[in-house]
Amino acid sequence: MTSGGDERAGRAAATDDPRVAVTARGLPRLTDRVDAADVPPLPRVPARAPRRTTLAAVGTRSLRVAAWRERDDIALVATRSGGRAPDPAEILRLVAAAHDAGVTRLVTGALTPGEQAPFAAAGFTVHDRLHLLSHDLRDLAPTPEVAFRIRRAGRADHAAALAVDARAFEPFWRLDRVGLRDALGATASARFRVLGSDPIVGYAVIGRSGDRGYLQRLAVDPGHRRQGLGAALVLDGLRWLRRRWATSVVVNTQVGNDAALSLYRRLGFVLEPGGLCVLTRTTDP
Ligand SMILES: CC(C)(COP(=O)(O)OP(=O)(O)OC[C@H]1O[C@@H](n2cnc3c(N)ncnc32)[C@H](O)[C@@H]1OP(=O)(O)O)[C@@H](O)C(=O)NCCC(=O)NCCS
Repeated sequence: MTSGGDERAGRAAATDDPRVAVTARGLPRLTDRVDAADVPPLPRVPARAPRRTTLAAVGTRSLRVAAWRERDDIALVATRSGGRAPDPAEILRLVAAAHDAGVTRLVTGALTPGEQAPFAAAGFTVHDRLHLLSHDLRDLAPTPEVAFRIRRAGRADHAAALAVDARAFEPFWRLDRVGLRDALGATASARFRVLGSDPIVGYAVIGRSGDRGYLQRLAVDPGHRRQGLGAALVLDGLRWLRRRWATSVVVNTQVGNDAALSLYRRLGFVLEPGGLCVLTRTTDP
């Protein structure tokens, strides 16, 4: 998915949601599962009124915060599109405001090394490391023959796709309805495809803004892996991007997700230097 967010945010990738991989400067990136050992223990959700309305007030000139999934106690931090880079003092003000609003933990989107510096100075530490890969869309591998039909996802398919997502990803990175909607809205246009009908065994969301594509989300049911389904979904998206005159596509994947890394490299993606990090800190003073 995805570092700084964009104003249309929530948009994971381009957005402010590390689930889909929030990226800085509106660059959507795909996030994936996280090693449970790397995930800080998450406190129970306190029973209180939803905080979504008050979170907006926590934002600063260059940073915005958004509810993380349906948690009241964790919030995403993303840069506002077109805004200047935040400095550590501004980030610390945001941390204090988030604390006052009842948020106990902040999580950034996927940040480039340059974007990480002010957050590190404000006490954020690495939550997750991500590879960033790109493809120039020139040579596309043949699409494998697979046992399920790739078809357009309708609204009625959202719940089943999210069920696949829940089986494919660790709890911390699972998408909920809002995250899926954000992923679909993160770019100027998006392609949402599912595999199969009853049941759905995989899905992919690929977005396009201008001549750039973003592989936002990909999941194959654990019971149907190594049958070419992931490759078929990715290639379907890459061909769609090429028909729309895109000239490159990017994706990110957690360091340690060898299945995804191997799949992308096999399909011709190349690793970009530097990589990305999702950062986190508690709001304790
Ligand atoms: C990554 C994922 C989508 C792959 O789906 P899949 O349908 O099993 O992948 P495919 O069968 O199309 O695999 C194509 C090629 O990718 C590579 N690959 C896929 N899974 C692999 C694994 N577990 N180990 C090593 N290589 C793997 C292989 O080269 C494979 O070809 P082969 O089977 O002929 O050796 C799936 O494992 C998944 O949903 N994982 C959890 C969610 C996730 O990580 N999504 C991606 C986030 S960035």
